[in-house]
Amino acid sequence: MHTTPDDIQAAITEQIRAYFQTARPAASDCRWPLTSNTIGADETIAVLDVLLSGRITMGQCVAEFEQAWSRFLGVEHSVMVNSGSSANLLAMSALASPIWKTGLRPGDEVIVPAVTWPTTVFPIVQVGCIPVLVDVDADTLNMTPHAVRHAITPKTRAIMPVHLLGNPCDMTEMMRIADEHNLHVIEDCCEAHGARVGDQPVGTFGEMSTFSFYFSHHMTTIEGGMISVREDEKWSNFLLSARSHGWLRQRSDRDHLARLFGQRDDRWLFVTPGYNLRPMELNAAIGLVQLRQMPDFIRQRAELRRTLLEGLADCEDALRLQRELPGHFHSAFAFPMVLRENAPFTRDALRDHLEAGGIETRPVLGGNLARQPAFEHIPWRAYSKLRVADDIDCNGLMIGINPGVTAEQTEYVIERIRAFVRRTGKTRSRGRNEIPTCREPARTHE
Ligand SMILES: Cc1ncc(COP(=O)(O)O)c(C=O)c1O
Repeated sequence: MHTTPDDIQAAITEQIRAYFQTARPAASDCRWPLTSNTIGADETIAVLDVLLSGRITMGQCVAEFEQAWSRFLGVEHSVMVNSGSSANLLAMSALASPIWKTGLRPGDEVIVPAVTWPTTVFPIVQVGCIPVLVDVDADTLNMTPHAVRHAITPKTRAIMPVHLLGNPCDMTEMMRIADEHNLHVIEDCCEAHGARVGDQPVGTFGEMSTFSFYFSHHMTTIEGGMISVREDEKWSNFLLSARSHGWLRQRSDRDHLARLFGQRDDRWLFVTPGYNLRPMELNAAIGLVQLRQMPDFIRQRAELRRTLLEGLADCEDALRLQRELPGHFHSAFAFPMVLRENAPFTRDALRDHLEAGGIETRPVLGGNLARQPAFEHIPWRAYSKLRVADDIDCNGLMIGINPGVTAEQTEYVIERIRAFVRRTGKTRSRGRNEIPTCREPARTHE
């Protein structure tokens, strides 16, 4: 018989461990899902401990997770928020805050790739700036330094490289351009935890970098995000206020500011315009457990990607597979395929063949974002055609890369793709989707 609350909690904990020894709930019944579930006994117990502690709003766990994340990445400060999208919104809000004399102002331009997740771009508009979409490279699927240079105008104030699907951008060159033109750099690393340029992790080049811990990412807090600040406390203090109503708490300059406004209660002192983008203790408790496992998850993802690339080498006449630049470590968020011009089949036929075999597919993120209906309602510019982005939009798809899949599953996926490419190669059936079936992109749109 359990007599004390601690005894009862220990018994529940034991039962949770017993449960996970017999079962791990899956995210999908598919043979090759887009996403797998990595939440296990330790995460469940960590959540229970928080709930039973009574301290359930943002507090100690969030602070510990932020410190652990800063150590992992090698940056000075990290601020946790409730999603990667919120991280991007807060980072842009930091650049554009009216509290700085030289902040970004309405109408200023920020350069972003045309192929990314929409909430890389929407925050630029939400702070009154204009996103300038640039085309991506057909092999890396990333925006190139060449395209960035071409897109710079006197109104350009920042660039936002996105390390697409775990593939690092050419950050050495991006930073050189930023230095030459005095531009801010925010790295969107929401899909690139653990990716590196040589030995340097992505997320440590720009002034700020953003990460997502949504369920399908390299590690998860279910929902959650982080903004990391390379060194400048000005940004981290701003982010701490702006994530939480604009108030003073947690800032390193709290005492100084409290003295300046000594007549007010400093617990209720609001020093910047703010939002409420706070995470919960529950998310951070899961994050602390997952962060310890992430290096192993990333190793498994990267190995799996290599196996897929090797297994599909003889399909490369028909399929373009994403490549990293020499010396870069790709941390394998997902596995994209884009039909080459001479592919003797359509993207939709390949997609249907994979789905029929229990292999989940999806488009390459938002495709060419300029084609998305939302972009009819927001200001944006492009200073060149977005040809590769269009190609990816019309002829690309991707499948999942997840830790914990078996060699048999991997063999099955490779064989199913190879069989399809071989068969349609012989029949010379109808070719890929023609790009002109999409609308012509506007050169500029405001
Ligand atoms: C490149 C990129 N940026 C931002 C986000 C937004 O992250 P979240 O889904 O956590 O809001 C994502 C989501 O996957 C993403 O892939």
